[in-house]
Amino acid sequence: MPVYLAGRDEDIENISEIFEALNMNIPVQSVIFSGLRGVGKTVLINKLQKIAEDKNIFCRHIEVEERNDFVSQIATCAQAFLRKVSAKEKFKHLIQKPLDAIKALVVSFDPGENTFSLSLLEKELYSSNNLTQSLTEVFITIGETAQKTETPICFFIDEIQYMKSGELGALIAALHRTNQLGYPVMVIGAGLPKIYKMLSDEKSYSERLFLYKEIGSLTEEQSKTAIEIPAGKFGVSYTEEAVKRITAVTKGYPFFIQQLCQIVYQNTGEKKITETQVEACLEEFFESLDRGFFKVRYERCADSDKKFVFAMVKCGELPCTISNIALNLHKSVTSISTTRAQLINKGIIYPIRYKELDFTVPEFSGYIQRLEEYREWCKESKR
Ligand SMILES: Nc1ncnc2c1ncn2[C@@H]1O[C@H](COP(=O)(O)OP(=O)(O)OP(=O)(O)O)[C@@H](O)[C@H]1O
Ligand SMILES: [Mg+2]
Repeated sequence: MPVYLAGRDEDIENISEIFEALNMNIPVQSVIFSGLRGVGKTVLINKLQKIAEDKNIFCRHIEVEERNDFVSQIATCAQAFLRKVSAKEKFKHLIQKPLDAIKALVVSFDPGENTFSLSLLEKELYSSNNLTQSLTEVFITIGETAQKTETPICFFIDEIQYMKSGELGALIAALHRTNQLGYPVMVIGAGLPKIYKMLSDEKSYSERLFLYKEIGSLTEEQSKTAIEIPAGKFGVSYTEEAVKRITAVTKGYPFFIQQLCQIVYQNTGEKKITETQVEACLEEFFESLDRGFFKVRYERCADSDKKFVFAMVKCGELPCTISNIALNLHKSVTSISTTRAQLINKGIIYPIRYKELDFTVPEFSGYIQRLEEYREWCKESKR
């Protein structure tokens, strides 16, 4: 959590109003934040969770991971809700129905809980359609309990792009039905830019079910507060030129601002930081990004992924088209489509508009250009 969360006041205000409505047992729209890596999605939803908890809304945070199981996570959250409700004697009779629904979901879909292997017939029985039914049953029954006990629920789901198609479809359908029945259950989700398309591909009505908000880099004014306010707490200030330089170098990306300011703060003993002092830290700043933020993403790429990434960078301008990437690789568009899908799944690139692609990591192409491996590849592909 940053010392000061810059530039998100409007979002916080809007969502706080939604929480107010939820608290009045009014069904509300769920919210989805999308944005590039390091733009501040997680810290924003964490902040919103604190606000919701202060309003006595029952909250749970789920981080979807590439290889974990969403069903068991949501089941655990629903169970936690029932535990909270059943602490009051007068509500005890309200938990059996939802508890049964959770059990049915877990027994059928949680691979961790399943000690027996399923027969072909059983597998067919537990198809994605049934997942939708089971999850909907869980949402409806906990929704009903939430309404009767006046305990609204908000699930915070981060890294939505890693949800499997069946899971996402089931979640949307369950939420939709709960909403139709007027139960106070909502989701605040966050993920990479491709989630917008994932949701609408899954269910066309998801466009009405969710309020979409794209979050991006900070404006000059917002960056200024992100730079100055945390430093101010330590009695440190920046000259106007220093702030401008930091904003220009970081392009207003919150993570970059934080990283650069941290290095500047560590390397400078003065109470007033100048542009020259910022300048002196830039090399270390880029090195630290190259060693951390960029490198972890790059290392998730297989050899074929890396070549695809190089070919994107070689296009010169981003977003770029798949046909230009194919051209740079001396391959056909069809033959590179698996690599494209793989990189999208890994959350390294995302599709924009028709057939165009970009990186989910801001300033990634600058990093690639600094790589020896990229320069070698360029030389070779010229031959
Ligand atoms: N509005 C902001 N003001 C100041 N600092 C911020 C802000 N948003 C994010 N940060 C800082 O930037 C960093 C990245 O934020 P965060 O982890 O929330 O990004 P993210 O969008 O979730 O990235 P990822 O897609 O990789 O999960 C954090 O260290 C956070 O403290
Ligand atoms: Mg995050």
